[in-house]
Amino acid sequence: MGVPDYGGGTTSGTHGHVPLADVASVSVTGLVADPSRPADVRVELAANALRVRLPGGAQFDGYTLNGATPGPAIRAAVGQLVEVVLRNEDVAGGVTLHWHGLDVPNAMDGVAGVTQDAVRPGGSFTYRFVAERAGTYWYHSHQVSHAQVIGGLFGALVIDPPGPTASDAVVLLHTYPGTSRTLNGHLGAVRRDARPGEVVRVRVANTDNAPTVVWVAGAPFRVLAVDGRDLVGPSPVEGRKVTVTAGGRADLEVRVPDAGVRVQAPGVSLVLGPVGSDPPTAAAPAATLDLLTYGTPASLGFDPTRPDRRFTYDIGRLPGFLDGRPGYWWSINGRIVPHVPMYMVAEGDVVAMRITNASGEVHPMHLHGHHLVVLTRNGVASSGSPWWVDSLDVEHGATYDVAFVADNPGIWMDHCHNLPHAVEGLMTHLMYDGVTTPFVLGPASGNDPE
Ligand code: C2O
Ligand code: CU
Repeated sequence: MGVPDYGGGTTSGTHGHVPLADVASVSVTGLVADPSRPADVRVELAANALRVRLPGGAQFDGYTLNGATPGPAIRAAVGQLVEVVLRNEDVAGGVTLHWHGLDVPNAMDGVAGVTQDAVRPGGSFTYRFVAERAGTYWYHSHQVSHAQVIGGLFGALVIDPPGPTASDAVVLLHTYPGTSRTLNGHLGAVRRDARPGEVVRVRVANTDNAPTVVWVAGAPFRVLAVDGRDLVGPSPVEGRKVTVTAGGRADLEVRVPDAGVRVQAPGVSLVLGPVGSDPPTAAAPAATLDLLTYGTPASLGFDPTRPDRRFTYDIGRLPGFLDGRPGYWWSINGRIVPHVPMYMVAEGDVVAMRITNASGEVHPMHLHGHHLVVLTRNGVASSGSPWWVDSLDVEHGATYDVAFVADNPGIWMDHCHNLPHAVEGLMTHLMYDGVTTPFVLGPASGNDPE
């Protein structure tokens, strides 16, 4: 699965200086939550392939979970053990579930051919993980994901912080095949009654392939969190929109005015207000909130200035062959899949990565199992709150320096969340020393994660 890149570290890891021969080998199947711990939250999800009819009439050949798309919102409190039994009723190509943004044990990551086999019709798979961090996440199939996600195999995953539950609303932005954008599966406006003065945390998740923007008409707001990580010192925002990259989330806090308020994305909105309120829509503000300067600085909890590994992830585009097919494919560090780097780390490493994009298009880059902190963009250092992401909007021409701690052993995809781009080769892995997988990819295996 690629050409090992040790990022200046050693094959034996940089902690403990263990000779390679002594690095214990562990299979991804052993990287699980405590099997003896009972579940606190248990959900059963049945996947179907069928003709879907959205409220309002749009139809397409898609997928449902328990008869609906989006699938049921899964909710747990931080620290709870979540158990989800996925049953494939009749999706011929097989299905999995990936917990996007929740840094689960590797065996639960749901990537067909890497952490499990795709669940065939009639089969099932049980996911178990402890919800370690409160925040807004989502789940989706990671088998033939470029077709199954757009077609409906996804839902919201919310982990509540300790203490009394605050008022919140989940907003899943999704564009199904041949439809315009929907909000929680509805075209146009959706409303939720709210008292004047009520403070609502609006949990926006962009489940599409392209970045989008959200804004609030009728009230100032604050951005409380991005990608399941609270921002420090978020100040009131007015007259700006917020970019939510593909796969990314933003939690917006709004205080409901007497006349109600409208949280908008292109083509859709969520109205929060008293019964009968109908706050006006507003055009998207021209200015975009810059998360590089928003909020106040705080400790990262690790020192990114002396990393154990330094990697580059240079995104380009090259003529060549992918699986024998000629084309103009995405490249990583000047090479086309499978000759792309496999980023090798050892547990405990501090990892620095420079991501550049000279490919002509934007790429929402997503690393599984970890959160990255943005250190610089185009050479300018972050001066706001620590900006942690699992999905990073990397514009054409941009350079991002990011860092993370390798604290979750496994084999983790690191790919573009414009899912057709992943099919076109914008996909590689982060790999921990000594971790092996019994699963295989490719046509003969029936596993096809992209
Ligand atoms: Cu949202 Cu590789 O996944
Ligand atoms: Cu891309």
